[in-house]
Amino acid sequence: MTHIRKAVFPVAGLGTRFLPATKSIPKEMLPLIDRPLIQYAIDEARESGIEEFIFISATGKTALEDYFCSARMLEQDLEARGKTTLLQRLKDTQIDDDALTILRQDRPLGLGHAVRLAKRAVGDEPFAVMLPDDVIRADQPALSQMVEAYRLCEGHLVATMTVPREQTSNYGILDVNGQLGRLTNAQGLVEKPRPDIAPSCEAVVGRYILAPSIFDRLDEIRPGAGGELQLTDAINADSQKIPVHGYRFAGQRFDCGSQVGFVAATLAYAQDRPELRSVINPGTRDRSRDLCQNASQIPNRIGDPYR
Ligand code: UTP
Repeated sequence: MTHIRKAVFPVAGLGTRFLPATKSIPKEMLPLIDRPLIQYAIDEARESGIEEFIFISATGKTALEDYFCSARMLEQDLEARGKTTLLQRLKDTQIDDDALTILRQDRPLGLGHAVRLAKRAVGDEPFAVMLPDDVIRADQPALSQMVEAYRLCEGHLVATMTVPREQTSNYGILDVNGQLGRLTNAQGLVEKPRPDIAPSCEAVVGRYILAPSIFDRLDEIRPGAGGELQLTDAINADSQKIPVHGYRFAGQRFDCGSQVGFVAATLAYAQDRPELRSVINPGTRDRSRDLCQNASQIPNRIGDPYR
């Protein structure tokens, strides 16, 4: 049985769709309610059995790198005040030094280029790739579902969802030649095809389990869509040699790299929190307006959930 121990987190993108916020705050540090996007990815990885975390970062993203360190003074302060829930939340952000690798991508030359930089850190074993701006709300973490599915197949496994045909040019799309439950057999992949030439509507989203042969293909391929080195193209090149499958995960995916997706995710995660639900439910609209007009009173009204 293959144990997926390592995950690569490409976080070197520019995040231009969130400028000017991303001028000084890495996109992955933007908070969904109170946790930055990167924390959702770390939690999902841990719950899926990941033990080693490899980040492909970029110059200037120190806020992201600092996030993984311990904040000793703050911890002592919370401990002294008996704020145990908050203290645990703080500790969850830490990644031990021997489990953490941070690499730098000098220039954003594409997702494929970012993943290629992890070659030495990954070594010769299958590994996960997680894009933190794809947030997946699911009962069983999406990566954990994929780790289980990977026991049934080898090669490359990519998370997929079915999209309307007019949206295929936003995604990597599978060339499907078979289906078994949630698993799709793919004879190839195409990056951002026009709807009229897209081979299917099965779109790749930001979770992958890849065989180490991907690094050889990443060395060989040329820049593709957008002039960037595309991970999809490398997987496609490998589909001649090893199996490639899609996995239709159970869960709700939010593209938090876009403003619409980020707002939708915020509303969905707020629904999960009793202290926020009344603010966003249509039936309590007047109450939410009330809360907004009296912002200074919000803590008293909704209580401190972490006390
Ligand atoms: P995006 O396509 O969302 O690009 O990257 P971006 O630069 O982050 O955002 P926009 O389009 O300018 O708003 C998808 C994922 O791939 C990573 C990003 O950090 C993100 O997690 N990525 C992309 C890299 O690490 N390096 C790259 O060269 C490109």
